[in-house]
Amino acid sequence: MGQSCMYRPWAGLIMASVLSLGAGWVCAQQPPAAAPPAVQACAVCHGVQGLSLAPDAPHLAGQPAFYLSAQLRAYRSGVRRHEVMGVIAKGLGDADIDVLARWYADQRIRLESAP
Ligand code: HEC
Repeated sequence: MGQSCMYRPWAGLIMASVLSLGAGWVCAQQPPAAAPPAVQACAVCHGVQGLSLAPDAPHLAGQPAFYLSAQLRAYRSGVRRHEVMGVIAKGLGDADIDVLARWYADQRIRLESAP
């Protein structure tokens, strides 16, 4: 009993340092970093994190970056036609498209079954 009382503070310290390391690691894993400024042009319809706010705008969160950038390039070139997205994509450079596609792809989504 005496022995365990003596050891307990050490165990506590070890636990605390393990936990604080753990907490640090969890924090480092957590999205989102600050949203890139270019997202402001999309957020009114698609949301900052890609959960769309407009009923006709698809959710972008968690879509593969490859798919998102391909769609944006298709809107920009006119291969995929949409009045609004065509205009918006024409204002995007390749670097903007890459940043936006990566941002939306990096958002984690979680699915739950309907009750
Ligand atoms: C005014 C509302 C509006 C804004 C602002 C807007 N979008 Fe869209 N977006 C839409 C709509 C509506 C669609 C569906 C178009 C269609 O049917 O092809 C769409 C489609 C898309 C798609 C295709 C998604 C898919 O599932 O195929 C991508 C990618 C996309 N938008 C990215 C962006 C990005 C990036 C921005 C900001 C630079 C942006 N959008 C700004 C309304 C908007």
